[in-house]
Amino acid sequence: VIGLFDSGLGGLTVVRRVRARLPHASMLFYADQAHVPYGDRTAEDLLGLLRHNLRWIDERGADAIVMACNTSCAIADAYGWPAVRAPVLDLIDAAAFSAARTHCKRIGVIATTATARSGAYGRRLRAAIADAEVYEVSAPALVPLVEAGTLEGDVARRAVAEACAQLPRTVDAVVFGCTHYPLLDEQFAKVLGSSVIRIDPAIEQAERVAALIESQGGSAEDGSTRYVTSGDLVAFRGNVARMMGESDPSVMQVAAEELPLR
Ligand code: DGL
Repeated sequence: VIGLFDSGLGGLTVVRRVRARLPHASMLFYADQAHVPYGDRTAEDLLGLLRHNLRWIDERGADAIVMACNTSCAIADAYGWPAVRAPVLDLIDAAAFSAARTHCKRIGVIATTATARSGAYGRRLRAAIADAEVYEVSAPALVPLVEAGTLEGDVARRAVAEACAQLPRTVDAVVFGCTHYPLLDEQFAKVLGSSVIRIDPAIEQAERVAALIESQGGSAEDGSTRYVTSGDLVAFRGNVARMMGESDPSVMQVAAEELPLR
């Protein structure tokens, strides 16, 4: 089984990409919606949540853990990855590889406050791309909009425009540094225009897990996905059904961990 987690619905953008690439894989997705948004939390809380979420998925027998939360990867960049049995695929590594492939040099990164503050994207992009100019900005308004299902209309458009306005007009690529943002892609396309390449790291992330699973001998699994939330089950079921196009998704609720975690 492939394990994934995020603070909330954003992780489904990664689940979708992995599902498209590996139709027969079994997946387990954990959305820690009791604690969303992660991006506004302290490093201490985020480290506790990262440790907890990785262990929780590892203990369920994951063959691979596919990171679907940039904020958690940014914390691991600063504090190191907690040890788990399953291999962990870092989303920021996938993002840096994707950005390098575009041959763009002036790269904007839009991310959560915690991710932007960590500087992890800037370091990894500069290591992957010679002479890269990286502009990291935070957009704390976007995750709550996505969680509320506000993906279209004036409010969404304005919030995306405000996020993009922090970047110099000369950027030639923008990385979605948070997995919630691809759900606002239509708004980003309108605001940025067609001359700016939009990079969704989940596309490369899906290629990486496919390569890993194939190197492990492939997966003879049933193509099912279990969706778990620490938040409201009814709302979660509706969002998963809509976003994943499954009429009766297998959803479950677990009790939220209390912060601070050690
Ligand atoms: N979707 C997550 C990320 O990629 C976290 C968003 C949040 O909860 O702030 O960073």
